[in-house]
Amino acid sequence: MTKRLNILVTTAWPYCNGDLHIGHIAGAYLGADIFARYQRLRGHNVLMVSGSDTHGTPITVRAEEEGVTPREIVDRYHPRIIRLWQELGITFDLYTETDTENHWRVSQDFFLTHWKKGYIYKDVMRQWYCLTDEQFLADRYVEGTCPYCGFPEARGDQCDNCGRILDAIELKNPRCRICGGTNLEIRETEHFFLDLAKLNEPLLEWIREDKEHWRPKVLNYTRAQLESGELRGRPISRDITWGITVPVPGYEHKRIYVWYEAVIGYFSATVEWSNIVGEPDAWKTWWKDPAARTYYFIGKDNIPFHTIIWPGMLIGYGDLNLPYDVPANEYLNVEGRQLSKSRRWVIEVLDVLERYDPDPWRYTLAAIMPEAGDVNFTWEEFVRRNNDELVATWGNLANRVLNFAYRNFDGRVPQPGPFDDLDTALLRASEEAFDTVGRHIDAVQIRAALREVRRLAEEANKYLNVKEPWKQIKGNREAAATTIYVALQVVDRLKVLFTPFLPFSSQKLHEYLGYEGNIMGRQWTEEIEEEQKKHLVLRYDGSDIPVRWEPSTLPPGQQLRKPKPLFRKLDPSVAEEEVERMLRMASGR
Ligand code: MF3
Ligand code: ZN
Repeated sequence: MTKRLNILVTTAWPYCNGDLHIGHIAGAYLGADIFARYQRLRGHNVLMVSGSDTHGTPITVRAEEEGVTPREIVDRYHPRIIRLWQELGITFDLYTETDTENHWRVSQDFFLTHWKKGYIYKDVMRQWYCLTDEQFLADRYVEGTCPYCGFPEARGDQCDNCGRILDAIELKNPRCRICGGTNLEIRETEHFFLDLAKLNEPLLEWIREDKEHWRPKVLNYTRAQLESGELRGRPISRDITWGITVPVPGYEHKRIYVWYEAVIGYFSATVEWSNIVGEPDAWKTWWKDPAARTYYFIGKDNIPFHTIIWPGMLIGYGDLNLPYDVPANEYLNVEGRQLSKSRRWVIEVLDVLERYDPDPWRYTLAAIMPEAGDVNFTWEEFVRRNNDELVATWGNLANRVLNFAYRNFDGRVPQPGPFDDLDTALLRASEEAFDTVGRHIDAVQIRAALREVRRLAEEANKYLNVKEPWKQIKGNREAAATTIYVALQVVDRLKVLFTPFLPFSSQKLHEYLGYEGNIMGRQWTEEIEEEQKKHLVLRYDGSDIPVRWEPSTLPPGQQLRKPKPLFRKLDPSVAEEEVERMLRMASGR
């Protein structure tokens, strides 16, 4: 048995201003869940946390567009995001949000600690000021032309076209998002800055330590940034009225910049979880043990925040573990086009889960996960993978073996006779798969891991086709019993190997194979009340996971249950219909 590791799995905190689409899932959440489930099956001490990012101008702009309060926006979308995690089976130990008392307290403590230790300084900065509205325009309150790529609708914090993070005063032809006017001028205002220049050296030291397990693009980008020695102070306060207040006397009317406090969520959520489970010091397991590993599953647009700013903040705070890995994914395009909410080119997950089961989505998105470059999702591929790989390969294998046992062996696992070379070879392959697949997941190579599991399912199908138990049963009952025994073992092992990827169908199969209980634990929502606010949190408890990531053995004689198909075949016309539907949406018809 390998040493039990403490593993913290985190994901980017999604802005709570709308529904999530499949790009978000393929970019961060699915990979994190597959990784976490696998590590739990290995018996490691896993904590997976995240929450809704409730602050910043993405939320307030949305609220103003609708004439409601930011909190109302949060109260609408946060429960929908939680529902999505449950329907798609994303098993957060805690999914919370940033507008909680806990997160305010922890964030203000970070701020004050940085302030006292000299990692935050005060300075005057230049910002757009709208003369019509008589206010400073933070981040997304100003729009204009991107100085790098010329995109005319770049926002003050970032350009959606080229992905660059911008300083708003660089924008050409700036417009005010509040009044739509261009009556703007640059004015000076006092703000707090995170002193990244001071953190450059310690960050360089850290990034030069063993990072061979990092994705090359993430590592090269980070090293280049740090080696350029050009880190400058970044403003971390804003003149807005929504967000966590600056805890420095005299500055309470300013708010902490959303990106400074959202990343603190990684830490504060573990503190909140510890309090919920009644072990207030439990968070130390992941933040203080030098052997603990912390993983950050994010999209590539968030890399500098997780490989430079957050590690810098952790160094400045002191005595907390720095990221072990930041396996950033690239983008998922759909039918050859960039996903875009404003251009209505999206596949929203809650929407498609009304028409399709979750596992085919998990399967397809894991199979094409953008780990090394942007990828293109097509509905045709979704239908093909569902029909050929899930229905015809894996589902069919499980079903014919179970049905055969059901019909010919009294619905029980038969007693095998002696094994021949084919039996032994397949059993050996199914044992070895735990190593090969596991090594890939450990290295956060989700696509390769899934490919290996699929290969074993294909091998098992070939084995059945060579052995032909339906013929064996006529002349040699013991030979048929051996074949079905071997095939059942391999199906049972494939069930475990597929569990991180296909938790819902693996659960069904677990029951068909005659087992009881929930294969990975339970998930539920809880309500937490504070100061007239209700917070919904999602909780997971896998403390008594009944299976392990190791070759299982189904005992002969075990009573099976009557199986049903694990997956549903989709009509090929589905692909065209769905594309047609998307085109209709995009053109506003
Ligand atoms: N809310 C940001 C986004 O959706 C991501 C925040 S990630 C965190 O792009 F690090 F701040 F949590
Ligand atoms: Zn204005």
